[in-house]
Amino acid sequence: VSAPLRIALLGAGSVGRAVAERLLTDGEWLADRADGRRLELSAVATRTPARLAGLKVPQGVAIESDPVALVANRPFDVVVELLGGLEPAGEVLRTALDAGTAVVTANKMLLAESGEALEAQARRSRAALRFEAAVAGGTPLLSVIAEDLVAVRIERIRGVINGTTNWILDSMETSGLDLAEAVAAARAAGYAEADPSLDIEGIDAAHKLVILGRLAFGLWIPVAAVRRVATEPPGAGGPGIAGVTRADIEAARAQGQHVRLVAEVRRRGADIEAEVVPRQLLPDDPLAAARGVTNIVAIEGQPVGSVTISGPGAGGPATAAAVIADLVRIARGAGSTWAGLPARDLQPAAAR
Ligand code: HSE
Repeated sequence: VSAPLRIALLGAGSVGRAVAERLLTDGEWLADRADGRRLELSAVATRTPARLAGLKVPQGVAIESDPVALVANRPFDVVVELLGGLEPAGEVLRTALDAGTAVVTANKMLLAESGEALEAQARRSRAALRFEAAVAGGTPLLSVIAEDLVAVRIERIRGVINGTTNWILDSMETSGLDLAEAVAAARAAGYAEADPSLDIEGIDAAHKLVILGRLAFGLWIPVAAVRRVATEPPGAGGPGIAGVTRADIEAARAQGQHVRLVAEVRRRGADIEAEVVPRQLLPDDPLAAARGVTNIVAIEGQPVGSVTISGPGAGGPATAAAVIADLVRIARGAGSTWAGLPARDLQPAAAR
């Protein structure tokens, strides 16, 4: 019998709690998929242990408040980072990768801001760094680009990759709300954060787009090089959807079209361009079909033409399934999400 994969889970929010629940209740089923290796929840770092209420956490599982101390002081095979934000998540990842410990993270902000340094560190210590859950939640996307489409020359990826803003645009269209009313409705429905500016201003989508750009084109585009302000309607002048008006939505609807916040990264000659701006889409555009918090991503390249993937972009149990898929891959001996892809020396156009 192979040794269990000892897991430190950092963060017990909606995704962290769902990861813990799957590991504790579905162990045998998951081990069958992990070459017989048990995925063992060894420790949890959370400042609010009440978030684990109702789960049968065995006695031997350490529950601690400080994720930095937990990872520095005890050996694990994998650290699952679901804290979000730049710190202390960054310190935890640096500590784990430095020690050669595998990391699974859903932290799109940290990857977008520090991906280049983290990748260099993971390559130096030969630690696996996997992050399927960081983009499009429970929808398989990154492994599709990095593994299944490895023989495709990708030219462009465009997608609706922020569920909150899509829910807001969708309800402006279907309920005739203005932006402020739709944001309030999204908050009431539990979709937007208390400070929804990361979503509204397109920053969250830009973070995810940087990750897609790394896998498709081999470079970490600086977040600041992602254009987020539209120069023409819909949404002219404001970052992300901040400038989208009821008139923009109505003008689109009068033509049978839909406004979506489109994140796009593409090759143009020797350059790579990236933007997150609202677009008025024809009804037969695959991205126009995004309703509510659904994510839809179209990957274009030769010789396949276009491959479109859609599914849940958020949600605890769905996103936890992507985290656990990475744990299973690590248990089977897989490397990082980018394993097998070259790190190419391209420059983003806006950074030149
Ligand atoms: N705020 C994000 C969204 C959560 O709305 O898509 C999932 O990454």
